[in-house]
Amino acid sequence: MNNRDVQAAWKYHNDTKHSLWSIRNNPHYLDFTNRPLPFKIYPAIKPFPLPRDVSQTEVAALSAIAEPAHLSRTETIPDLQDLARIFYFSAGITKQRTYPGGEIYFRAAACTGALYEIELYLVTRDLPGLDAGVYHFNPADVSLRLLRKGDFRGNLGQATAMEPAVAHAPATIISTGTYWRNAWKYRARTYRHFGWDNGTLLANMLAVAAASGLPAKIVLGFVDAEVNRLLDLDRRREVSLCLVPVGCTTKSSLPTPRDAPVLGLETIPLSQHEVEYPAMLQMHDASSLDTQEQVRQWRATGPVDTSSASAREEIRLQPLPEEEQPKDTIEQVILRRGSTRTFDKTASITLPQLSTILECAPGGLPADFLEPPGAQLNDLYLIVHSVEGLKPGAYFFRRDRNTLEVLKTGEFRAEAYHLGLAQELPADACVAIFFLADLERILDRYGNRGYRAVQLEAGAIGGRMYLAAYAQRLGSTGLTFFDDDVTQFFSPHAKGKSAIFLVAVGRPLKRKAP
Ligand SMILES: Cc1cc2nc3c(=O)[nH]c(=O)nc-3n(C[C@H](O)[C@H](O)[C@H](O)COP(=O)(O)O)c2cc1C
Repeated sequence: MNNRDVQAAWKYHNDTKHSLWSIRNNPHYLDFTNRPLPFKIYPAIKPFPLPRDVSQTEVAALSAIAEPAHLSRTETIPDLQDLARIFYFSAGITKQRTYPGGEIYFRAAACTGALYEIELYLVTRDLPGLDAGVYHFNPADVSLRLLRKGDFRGNLGQATAMEPAVAHAPATIISTGTYWRNAWKYRARTYRHFGWDNGTLLANMLAVAAASGLPAKIVLGFVDAEVNRLLDLDRRREVSLCLVPVGCTTKSSLPTPRDAPVLGLETIPLSQHEVEYPAMLQMHDASSLDTQEQVRQWRATGPVDTSSASAREEIRLQPLPEEEQPKDTIEQVILRRGSTRTFDKTASITLPQLSTILECAPGGLPADFLEPPGAQLNDLYLIVHSVEGLKPGAYFFRRDRNTLEVLKTGEFRAEAYHLGLAQELPADACVAIFFLADLERILDRYGNRGYRAVQLEAGAIGGRMYLAAYAQRLGSTGLTFFDDDVTQFFSPHAKGKSAIFLVAVGRPLKRKAP
């Protein structure tokens, strides 16, 4: 299939839209007896435990989110403590709860359905305390498992057509998505979830890397088959989604690519039986890059800028001044983060609190599809219910001017309830932030792979919103939505755009003591 044949992305997107009709006519019952395992387990490989008593970075969450460390000229080599910190605070288990259906191990980053379909791998040279190799990270025992011994970074250099951050990285983390683990509940819509759930995890990873003084960047341009082969993935079940080079060596000294034969390593089956959703395999194939030349061309495409001139009233953002910003560290904030289950609909937040979220979450995501830095694929539209300093209504966030453009004023809690898939959360929050994108222009520039990019960016910005909200002791949750109704609500301004994601921010309802 061809990345430029963008009918594939349109077909997948249109076929996986939620509408009142699709929900009523296509119900899905969860088979709890066939619920997938939340971990990938290699029973025959000895674990290499990561240190658990890792030093704290002491860096305030808000600055860790807002200031990712860029590719520097100085030598920054992660050690085992850094890697343990990055893995744990991106994908580690932070809470455990018992439900009638069994135990749920909640992780550092939010994930649709708490199904945790994103796996992490590491490709590294020799580091202090760790031998060169290809490893899998298992959050269940906070351990690495060696899949291939030796320095395979040259294979990643080749697969990314020598992307500069990969070429200079002593270590690269790779995210993969396991279809069935999420499709058990969400069926073919899981391919969108790959982007969202990988994105929330990356928001944590980039912030913790920055707090550790290590440059890190999202790399989406790579030859899919080469990376899948290196990780020994069965591509009908699990696929590579993105690379995150971590750290920097002053000169590019990648070894030549090595032979990576099929390993066929044993893993514990996720369920008694799995269901395959061909729409997702087709979407993945259609957005795959097959050669280094395709990668090079893909990376050379310029950014998409969708902001337009406006004659509407605009309200300037008023972020909290530096000295008034909460100073809780990134680790503290990640540990207390969770998705708010009930918002207090009588509560409000302030314009400076909202401004702080909007100022530090969207901008400056380091990614190969966002060059020059500052470019963005998703546009943010807000339904404000109760923000002191703003009239209730619908707004468009003009990131080029740091303003909120008034689209219409009025109480829209009932509309937010409906748009957020008839859930109370977006109605009871103080603000519901919708992500919409001009898919036409994005697919035109990036081909089908632009679809991966726009979902991933939404998840990463959404993940940063979670962190920026929890840093300010507010609550937040990611949400799903009725696609076309969202566009319609924000039209004519949003005409032609597609709904990509939704985040609600507010104050969690404090439960009264019994
Ligand atoms: C992309 C995304 C979409 C989500 N959609 C919903 C939703 O529609 N309704 C809901 O109640 N929770 C939703 N959640 C919250 C998840 O259920 C929650 O992240 C998961 O149960 C893990 O819990 P935690 O975030 O508290 O760690 C969503 C989370 C993400 C990341």
